[in-house]
Order: sequence, then C-alpha cells, then structure tokens
Amino acid sequence: MKSWIDFWNAEHSIYVNARHKQLHAEAVARDIVRHIPRTNAVVLDHGCGEALYAEVVAQRCGCLILCEAAPKICADLAQRLAGVSNVQVIDPVGAEQIPPASLDLVVVNSVLQYLSRDTLEALLDLWRAALKPNGRLVIADVIPPGVNPLRDAAALLWFATRGGFLFPALGGLVRTALSDYGRIRKALGFSMYREPEFVALLAAHGLAAERSHPNFGHNQARMTFSARKM
Ligand SMILES: C[S@@+](CC[C@H](N)C(=O)[O-])C[C@H]1O[C@@H](n2cnc3c(N)ncnc32)[C@H](O)[C@@H]1O
Repeated sequence: MKSWIDFWNAEHSIYVNARHKQLHAEAVARDIVRHIPRTNAVVLDHGCGEALYAEVVAQRCGCLILCEAAPKICADLAQRLAGVSNVQVIDPVGAEQIPPASLDLVVVNSVLQYLSRDTLEALLDLWRAALKPNGRLVIADVIPPGVNPLRDAAALLWFATRGGFLFPALGGLVRTALSDYGRIRKALGFSMYREPEFVALLAAHGLAAERSHPNFGHNQARMTFSARKM
C-alpha cells in the first residue's frame, strides 16, 4: 500500500485541470498573505506542495521557506524557484535544522489529514521551537470528524461552479474516487480533530490556539487555527 507521501510524489488528478490549480493557488496565496505580520517576516510553509503561489507570497515577506516531504515535488520546487532570492526549499530533515526562535509565521495548509498523531506531535514541538516569541502558527484545512468525502465533493463542486470548471470537476471527482487517492483514503483514512480536542492538543505542546475564520481555500466545513507560544 502506498503512503500519502508516495501519492503526492506521483502523478495525480486532485486538481482537475489547470484552472482549478490556478484558482486554488490564488486562494491559498491570499490566505497566507492575510496572516503575514509584516513585509520582512520570515515565513515557513510546511507541506507546501507545488506552491504555485510561492512567488506571490515571497513578494509579501522577507523570506519564504518551503518545506515539502515528497522528493519529486521538493526537487521541482528547488529548480523552479532557484532564481527567487528570498525563497528556500527544504525537506523535513532540513526543517529540523531551522534555528530556534527564527520564524515569524508557520503556515500548514491541508496537511494534517495526512499526518499520524505521532508525526503531528513531533512537528508541533518543532514549529514551537522555531517560532519567535511573538510568532504565529497557522494550521488550516483541519478536518473535523463527520466531514465525509461527499461534503468535500460538494465544496469542490461549488468552488468549480463559481470558477467555471464544473464539468471538469465532475469528471475529476470520478477519477479521484477510482484512483489511488480513493484507495489510500479508504485504507489509511484521514486524521481528523474536533475543535476542542485540537485546541487541547496544541496547549499540551505549549501553544495557545484559537479558531480563525475563514478557513483557507474553498472548503468552509474545515477549520483554521491560529496559535502562539504560551
Ligand atoms: C494537500 S497537499 C497541500 C499543499 C499546499 N499546502 C496547498 O495548500 O496547496 C499536502 C502536501 O503535504 C505534503 N506533506 C505531507 N506530509 C508532510 C510532512 N510530514 N512534511 C512536509 N510535507 C508533507 C505532501 O507531500 C503534499 O505535497
């Protein structure tokens, strides 16, 4: 059975076409930029994926560090962004070397569902140590229990209707359900958290978290949390 990282590292059709990818990137860029505290901020985007928004976000902060676990995505990012002087691309081993108290903002969008509890807890400690005393950790697209694949599909179709890619989205949903994504989701499931449970988990790692509205991206059934060091 493939892992989620294997899934993201291979070709997939989660983004149903170029317009979907573009609109997703624009929305995530807007959402990240909203949380950047000032123009010289040092920002870590952990689990950044292809980060088609990287250039836009990099223009709004002092330094953007992109961390990605899928080796092919990481290599492609490093190549694509080699000419952008305030962007660094790292893998999870590189993330362990981020100096303590060096980051103003850590954003983690649509990643938690793919992380085991142990991995998440280790990352909470890493992010906390890397944050400056007044830095912020923003974790977005956290899935509460009860948000099933049909709810995700409905949110995508609404996004697609507004974005003018409804028919490709309908085809994409069928392709995704029949793909490795559907098989891995059935086998491994998603990590899901209730709001109070998630706030308590962050508190146990020395982070005071609160719900932040709106959620990143198009699915408002999922949750964003903003946390600071206690
Ligand atoms: C759904 S994508 C989200 C990408 C991006 N954050 C966005 O909003 O478009 C999840 C990404 O997280 C990456 N990922 C999963 N576990 C990770 C980990 N432990 N460290 C870094 N990246 C991870 C996956 O490889 C994948 O590219």
